[in-house]
Amino acid sequence: MTSPTALICETQAWKDLKGHVEDINKTHLRDLMSDAHRCESMMLEFEGLLLDYSRQRATVETMGKLLNLAKAAQLSEKISRMFNGEHINSTENRSVLHVALRAPKDAFIKADGKNVVPEVWNVLDKIKDFSEKIRSGSWVGATGKPLKDVIAIGIGGSFLGPLFVHTALQTDPEAAECAKGRQLRFLANIDPVDVARNISGLNPETTLVVVVSKTFTTAETMLNARTLRNWITTALGAQAVAKHMVAVSTNLALVEKFGIDPNNAFAFWDWVGGRYSVCSAVGVLPLSLQYGFSVVEKFLKGASSIDKHFQSTPFEKNIPVLLGLLSVWNVSFLGYPARAILPYSQALEKFAPHIQQVSMESNGKGVSIDGLPLPFETGEIDFGEPGTNGQHSFYQLIHQGRVIPCDFIGTVKSQQPVYLEGEVVSNHDELMSNFFAQPDALAYGKTPEQLQKENVSENLIPHKTFSGNRPSLSLLLPELSAYNVGQLLAIYEHRVAVQGFVWGINSFDQWGVELGKVLATQVRKQLHSSRTQGAAPEGFNYSTTTLLKRYLETSPEPKM
Ligand code: F6P
Repeated sequence: MTSPTALICETQAWKDLKGHVEDINKTHLRDLMSDAHRCESMMLEFEGLLLDYSRQRATVETMGKLLNLAKAAQLSEKISRMFNGEHINSTENRSVLHVALRAPKDAFIKADGKNVVPEVWNVLDKIKDFSEKIRSGSWVGATGKPLKDVIAIGIGGSFLGPLFVHTALQTDPEAAECAKGRQLRFLANIDPVDVARNISGLNPETTLVVVVSKTFTTAETMLNARTLRNWITTALGAQAVAKHMVAVSTNLALVEKFGIDPNNAFAFWDWVGGRYSVCSAVGVLPLSLQYGFSVVEKFLKGASSIDKHFQSTPFEKNIPVLLGLLSVWNVSFLGYPARAILPYSQALEKFAPHIQQVSMESNGKGVSIDGLPLPFETGEIDFGEPGTNGQHSFYQLIHQGRVIPCDFIGTVKSQQPVYLEGEVVSNHDELMSNFFAQPDALAYGKTPEQLQKENVSENLIPHKTFSGNRPSLSLLLPELSAYNVGQLLAIYEHRVAVQGFVWGINSFDQWGVELGKVLATQVRKQLHSSRTQGAAPEGFNYSTTTLLKRYLETSPEPKM
């Protein structure tokens, strides 16, 4: 353990905010929203992207106190340490430099004494070259056919970010045009059903498999990789692997051992956390294969624009910093344990699942970065669905049940506008009517007095009352181009880092995922010996033994 430092909750700034909760509890968003001066101070614009956080349960005074908390947490120093490549991921002794993945060619970002930007661009140039060969058909498969379909195998950070970006670009007109005639699929789950779904309708002759794994040891990914290798070699022979399988990893030795030509491996570095890796070859390779490198480069540029904004903008105008501080306020002071991510955009349907990992794997921690138990909770439960689907599902709870701070995300311009003659509004306007209405419904609610005036019968008044005072923020993007998708990603990545920096935790390790993996290894061994030697389950508790016995006795799995 490194020398313990004071916990953030021991600082005066934290105590001031604790005391301030009482003041905020005396306010209602209905009243706060009537103060135009306050609302004006809670709007921020960056490159046409508008953030409105006036529906947070916060006053100008709250914001001042949160900025004091940032100072007490040495937020500015921590951000600089990240950009300077210091080993801020102390439990893994690593730098945290995903910002270098999208830095311009002439940038200088140091890790362990060396500028990493040239290495980053070497890999990007290699991806550009390789993806052009595949897309143009100059690289062909074992039977001489162009490879028009790609299956990317990976899980967690080697899956969720690329899936989110792919889903977001699929209907962007420019990206869609570039993807004509091509398919990109993602195989993550070790469930053989996911394999079946992925290969359904695909021909190994025209398919390229990209194995994506930072460590190249992840059980699910490696078994799926062996399964698809088998799919390819059964159809095309062992030598087809060289033409039909490539890899993305930090562990190039294991890539070679697996049988993939090291020339067909795309590297990244241990200073890229899995959940922060979408801007490395993890995302850039599959996405470039599908959309072409020039589209993906725009995505990287968008992320980079936010990196610059985050690094250099004063905190009171800094989007990720303000969002991070407000999340800390909601979790640690107002006591809200969850956050709903609600994009009014079908193209962002995979955004919440990606942010779930970015946020929950980063900030779901129980000790400080120095290993001290925390007397307060960190992280929040992130979930979400595109509006308006969510409205017809879980919004009931958000309106009248538990209080869950909401992020409303909308776009000015639709990727696929439709207007039917005779309709009151265009389809996008219809969607966005909800984006504008829901935050006010949450903030203002509806009082019994209002209901009485509407002649609602007495017995229904309690059921139809909305308490209001439910916080949200609105993020309005000009459109959902590759550039804006990159911006959105970087805003959330940095917001999560800000929260972790303030809480004083390590947002860049993930020891909590290890225990389950170890126990699964024990079960795997047991299943093997039971299947091959008929061994009875041994060394497990009563519950697991009973479940295992039932599974083994009744399962139709083949005897080995
Ligand atoms: O188990 C969690 C995790 O380690 C994530 O952090 C990571 O994104 C995922 O597994 C996949 O890891 P890899 O890219 O090494 O296969």
